[in-house]
Formats: sequence, structure tokens, C-alpha cells
Amino acid sequence: MKLRFDYNNMMEAAIGKHGLKDNVFAKNAAKIEAARNAVLAARGKGWQEWCDLPYLPESELNETIAYCEEIGKKAESFVVLGIGGSALGPLSVASALLHLHHNELPKATRKAPKFYVEDNVDPERMAALIDVLDLKTSYFNVITKSGETSETLTQFLILYSMLKEKLGVEEAKKHIIVTTTIGKGTLYNIAEKEGFKIFGLGQGVGGRFSVLSNVGLVPFAVLGLDIKAMLAGAAAAAKSAEEADVRKNPALITAFMQVESMKSGKNVSVLMPYADSLKYMADFYCQLWAESLGKAVDLKGKEVHAGQTPAKSLGVTDQHSQVQLYTEGPYDKVVTFLAVDNYRTKVVISDDKDVDACDFLKGHTMNELIDAERKATEFALRKAGRSNFTIYLPEVSEETIGELLMYFMYETAFAGALLNIDTFNQPGVEEGKKATFAMLGRKGYEAKLQEVNAAAVRPEYIIK
Ligand code: PA5
Repeated sequence: MKLRFDYNNMMEAAIGKHGLKDNVFAKNAAKIEAARNAVLAARGKGWQEWCDLPYLPESELNETIAYCEEIGKKAESFVVLGIGGSALGPLSVASALLHLHHNELPKATRKAPKFYVEDNVDPERMAALIDVLDLKTSYFNVITKSGETSETLTQFLILYSMLKEKLGVEEAKKHIIVTTTIGKGTLYNIAEKEGFKIFGLGQGVGGRFSVLSNVGLVPFAVLGLDIKAMLAGAAAAAKSAEEADVRKNPALITAFMQVESMKSGKNVSVLMPYADSLKYMADFYCQLWAESLGKAVDLKGKEVHAGQTPAKSLGVTDQHSQVQLYTEGPYDKVVTFLAVDNYRTKVVISDDKDVDACDFLKGHTMNELIDAERKATEFALRKAGRSNFTIYLPEVSEETIGELLMYFMYETAFAGALLNIDTFNQPGVEEGKKATFAMLGRKGYEAKLQEVNAAAVRPEYIIK
């Protein structure tokens, strides 16, 4: 594995009474081992097909790459239409690996289409997107595992009509690429009928665990990213998740420490990358951690209301907005730092002789400054007795990002097993989806509409 994990600041030796005792792992060995075994035994089965994604056959990958390279050559803009697990993987990885101002670069430097991930149904955002796209050179990847999600179907309907109007039916069809479950769902049926290119999704790959399936691989290959290196990184993380010794198994030990910390009221998990390229990794993590672990009942049906609220924070930006709370507020957080050893560029702070001040900054690099600030925040949290650990990426690359994604997924699966909950369902999300169908008058949801309408709204509680 290329990633390194430093969990000193989770331990009593570093942060005092709010930390974990060194014997906590030995004391809980049986529980940790049971969680590890449960996850590893289920690999490739049920909802754990995501565990197999790093080992996709070479021939399948080559076919995907060949198709996507052609789209990449033709497209000036490539737009993902999706939401939740069908958007955050593509968004977080592309943001990590593309130039930070990718869409603003001239075409010759960019060497890939402009990239947009549209994961909302705000009408102003849709109008703004349409304002900047040239439909003749825009390609749309409609991603929805269920093929039923209102937001994604809405975006599809609007843009497909516009494409047909502008390019004619036959050409419009070539601009839509669908990623969905084969043989199931409204979008699959439409895609078959219209003759769109379809990429399939395994039945047992849930939305938030799907970034290394065609959900992510298709847009990444269109953007010219090295998906084979990404999967190799993911395979390395999967291997390390097998390690029996918890102290050598990053996903298992961090899952355990998070769950153990929850017992002492640390119900917030902050992910704080010290790199703008990793900003959206925090969004990816938040969805994975929130939807997977936030559950009303355990596997035996007992009411538990489990979960740890994830929060995103960006170093150093949020040092100036949130770190005050992290150091002096309630002892209710575990902070995970993402550190990068080697940024892809070095920027020197000018040693400007005309400016007779700021000598402490002059001649240093921004790289040194961001690194010092991360260490300073870590130090401040440690001094204040606050739980935190750091994941080091030697650099941000396809391989390390693949590793990080797989680590997050195994960490989540282990945490779910330790909490004895169903990590892979999302009944709370489904409830909202059904209520939306009902309110928009979808057939078959009449009873749900009655239930929604029956919810008491009392005028005395409304301020006008
Ligand atoms: O993780 C999940 O399952 C969800 O967040 C889904 O990804 C999200 O609701 C979108 O669903 P779909 O891909 O079916 O459109």
C-alpha cells in the first residue's frame, strides 16, 4: 500500500483521558475479528460485489477504454447526470485528478472534454448549464442504478428533448450514454427502446459503493484517466483489508477506533483534506459514512439509531472557520486528516526585497506552509485532547486515489459490521424517493400520497 496511517492522536498516550487505551485492541479482539470475518466472507456476494471491482477483466476494461476514448475525442463537454452514489464518485475522483481549473483551460492544454457533474434539480443550475454547453459537442452520461430516480430522469428528459430539437433524433441518440442496471428500471427500458449506448452495473453494487464500477470508470476513461492504475490501487487497499492483525489493517483499525469513540459520545466524524484536489473526497466520504451507518435498527431488528454524523472541512481554509470548535467545543468529534506528501507543483513565496515585512514567509514554499499548518492543527487538537488521525498520500494519482476509495469502502463495511447493522441498505432515502413520486402523481403511489397529505400541518406553527 502507498497510503500511510498515523493514529497516535487517537490514543491515551497522546491525548490523555479522551483517547483510547493501548489494550483496547486486545480487549476487543474477538469482536474485531468477527467484524473482519463477516465482511471478508461476504466479498463478492449480496451487496458486496463492490469488493470484486478491482479485478474487472482486462478485456472488459479495454473495451470500455476504447469506446470512451472515442467519446473523449468528439466531446467538447462531457456531462454526468446523476445524484448521490451516481454522482459523488465521478465528482470526487475527477476533481482530484484533473487540473483544478480544468474547464477553463484551453482545449489544447486540457486534452480532455470539459467535465460537469449535475447532481441537483435546481432550475437555475440547469439553465446555467444549458447556457454554457454547445449541444453539438456535448455528451451526457445518465447514471442511475435503479433507473428510477426522479432527479436524474428529469435531467435526462430535459436534455434529450433539447438534443433532438437541435441535432435531430438519430444524432441526439449518439449523445446519450446510459449507466444503469441491465434489464431493470425505467431508464434501462428507455435506453433499450431508444438505442442508447448502455454500460451495465452489477446487481450487488450499491450506489455509494459504485465509484469503481462503470459509474466511475466510464467518465474517468472519457477524461483520459488511467483506470487500470486506479483499480490496481484499489486492489492494494483490498489486500490490506484482509490483514488479520488489526494493527496492520488500516480500514479495520480506523473503523474500530471510530466505533469505539462513538461509545464516549464522539458522534461526529470530520474529514479534513489538506488539498483542494481532495475537497470533494470529503463529500464522497460523507455520503458513504452517513448512508451506510445511519440506521434505525440492527441486524436483529432491535432499535439502535446508529450512526456517526460525517462533516467536511478543508485545510487550511476551515482552520479559519471550524477549528475553533474542534479544539474547544464538545468532545464529540473524530477528525481524519488527509495529508499529501508531494503536491503536483511547488510554489515559492517571493523573497520581495521591496516589502520590508513578512520575513518569516519569504523564501519558503506554499508546500511548506500548508504542511506546517496541517501539523499545527494536528498539534493544537492533540494538545486539546481531541481525537484525530492522519492518512498520508505520497501524491494524488490514479493509484493513490483508487487506494483511498477502497480503503474508505472497507472502513465503512467494517464499521457497519462492528455496529451490527445493514451497511448496504438506505430505507430513509427510499422513503423520500417514494414520497416524491407520490407528490408528482406517479401511478401506483396513491396510498403514499394519502400518507404524505395526512401529515398534520398546523397553521399556528407557521410565521407569515
Ligand atoms: O447510495 C445510494 O444508494 C444512493 O445514494 C443512490 O446512489 C442515489 O439515491 C441515486 O440512486 P440511483 O443511482 O438509483 O439513481
